[in-house]
Amino acid sequence: MIPYKHEPFTDFSQEENRNAYLEGLKTVEAYLGQDYPLIIGGERVTTEDKIVSFNPADKEEIIGRVSKSNKELAEKAMQSALEAFKSWKKVKPEVRADVLFKAAAIIRRRKHEFSALLTKEAGKPWNEADADTAEAIDFLEYYGRQMLRLKDGMPVESRPGEYNRYDYIPLGVGVVISPWNFAFAIMAGTTVAAMVTGNTVLLKPASTTPIVAYKFIEVLEEAGMPAGVVNYIPGPGGEVGDYLVDHPKTRFISFTGSRAVGLRIAERSAKVNEGQIWIKRLIAEMGGKDTMVVDKEADLELAAQTIVKSAFGFSGQKCSAASRAVIVEDVYDTVLERVIELTKELTIGNPVEQSNFMGPVIDAAAFKKITDYIEIGKEEGRLVVGGTGDDSTGYFVNPTVFADLDPNSRIMQEEIFGPVIGISKAKDFDQALEIANNTEYGLTGAVITNNREHLEQAREEFHVGNLYFNRGCTGAIVGYQPFGGFNMSGTDSKAGGPDYLTLHLQAKTTSEML
Ligand code: SER
Repeated sequence: MIPYKHEPFTDFSQEENRNAYLEGLKTVEAYLGQDYPLIIGGERVTTEDKIVSFNPADKEEIIGRVSKSNKELAEKAMQSALEAFKSWKKVKPEVRADVLFKAAAIIRRRKHEFSALLTKEAGKPWNEADADTAEAIDFLEYYGRQMLRLKDGMPVESRPGEYNRYDYIPLGVGVVISPWNFAFAIMAGTTVAAMVTGNTVLLKPASTTPIVAYKFIEVLEEAGMPAGVVNYIPGPGGEVGDYLVDHPKTRFISFTGSRAVGLRIAERSAKVNEGQIWIKRLIAEMGGKDTMVVDKEADLELAAQTIVKSAFGFSGQKCSAASRAVIVEDVYDTVLERVIELTKELTIGNPVEQSNFMGPVIDAAAFKKITDYIEIGKEEGRLVVGGTGDDSTGYFVNPTVFADLDPNSRIMQEEIFGPVIGISKAKDFDQALEIANNTEYGLTGAVITNNREHLEQAREEFHVGNLYFNRGCTGAIVGYQPFGGFNMSGTDSKAGGPDYLTLHLQAKTTSEML
């Protein structure tokens, strides 16, 4: 087996790569506006009621209409997943992993089509879409290999006359509730982690990006996934999500999304319902309020460049995005000035144009939430760039910087999930770290400094799941920088990490007398 290596990003400065992406775009444009059914036990199920997926950069453009599941269909999907579990759990781990490797190969061949679909459905600029697709491939390649490592369990001791084993077995039916911001990577990653471990899955993708999820299930089918192993059931969280989270046969839930929804799931899934004979397991990846700390002994150009890129890449709609910067006072004005200059240079517009650095935000609700926060920011701090939006054709919010904020202000504390960054001044590095730790989240953070002692201090004290030195705080790579945060950022799981799959397994000890 070839050792795992992450999928390289596409160099769009090469004409042939640009053309390949444009070809992908043509493929996607040819299927825009179609209807998509649910997939339950391999069967296509069409409902009257639809979820309409549209292009957030161009509200008039319909990406597709997807059948909408409800309680009855969710129950049908549960029954089919329960049935499929009986045989899937017995399929050899090697065979389950082969489905992932084959799926990766299929996606690699259709890479730019998937990226172009992300541009259309999620509003991702080319390079962001390309990274999302690459990450989806990485999850398939990485989790496939991780399963091969776990297939024989872990070594344990045996006394003379005794044979002990420690094996991992699957849990049962998992409910996967995936987000729109990594509509391909996180959706695919959470789904395949659950299935390669021998579980069966009820996938409820985000209602804003259901088409890419549908296309992915087709890939899994083509790769040899048996019917019923992953069931595709987009639908409203309040109805389908709650029903499945509460369901006595749900064994685990893998959720990625907001803190509010994550906590709701944590509470509901903790309740034991009639007929339930286990405690549900919850894997949750929630929000972040991620900080870039800039020290006085630092490469200040690097600081400004990485702040801007981490804050505004994909319009700040990453849980890893830099939504705060804390700059030591000696260099505060210099870095802030450069951040302002660089932010003003950013291009914003329809992400089908390669020249646009930033596209839209995901939908009307996001636009409203972000622009409401901008009004709050105007009260709390000094607006130095941006502060405006335009939702006439798509949901565009200009990259916005607030300076001179109190570290306890709402802009510095609450997750905005848009292109807005708050900046605070610290008197020294100690205070900068204190501010960096003063949120209820603990997902990512970065420190820009040339001071070795300060790096080591941050390594110890900066309480985040993903800490970066002298680089931005987004863009974790599967298998290289396992991703997931502390405190209100989730359940401390690490997607793309060596112990992630075991969250979907239970260990069984057998002891035989020889
Ligand atoms: N893994 C992504 C990043 O690191 C966020 O989900 O940016």
